[in-house]
Amino acid sequence: MTQSGWGDNLSLSEPQMDREHGALLAEADEFSAAVDAGASRAELEMRLTRLIEGFQDHFDAEEILMRSRGFPWLEPHIDEHRKLIGQMRELRDALGSGSIKLCDALALFVRMWAEQHIKGPDASFAQFLHQGNAGSGAAMSCGQ
Ligand SMILES: [Fe+2]
Ligand SMILES: [Fe+2]
Repeated sequence: MTQSGWGDNLSLSEPQMDREHGALLAEADEFSAAVDAGASRAELEMRLTRLIEGFQDHFDAEEILMRSRGFPWLEPHIDEHRKLIGQMRELRDALGSGSIKLCDALALFVRMWAEQHIKGPDASFAQFLHQGNAGSGAAMSCGQ
């Protein structure tokens, strides 16, 4: 598995999350490279479908972990996950109907969304785990 563009600044010191984030970003980079290489619409649709499934699997695993640890900001986090999946599906459908020019913008959007989400909400969850709040449901301040 390549981890192109995966930098230490995105590491949350949570091995499972870091591994999955690295794999997703590598797949997003591969999608971007396929766009740049002028891949066919069928290939881009296939790659995008796989990317959406990868994000969905990661979000499911993350939400299960959050629920099991009593993370107090679970619901807004789930909302963010759902919004991304919804937007990616809409764009995939647009791609399927012929708007191939959307691909560049989509690749950039996915990459930027993922980095911001990892540095923001996911980092808050990692901090929650590191502070030993897991399982207690104790309150913590957000975004520190
Ligand atoms: Fe997340
Ligand atoms: Fe995540």
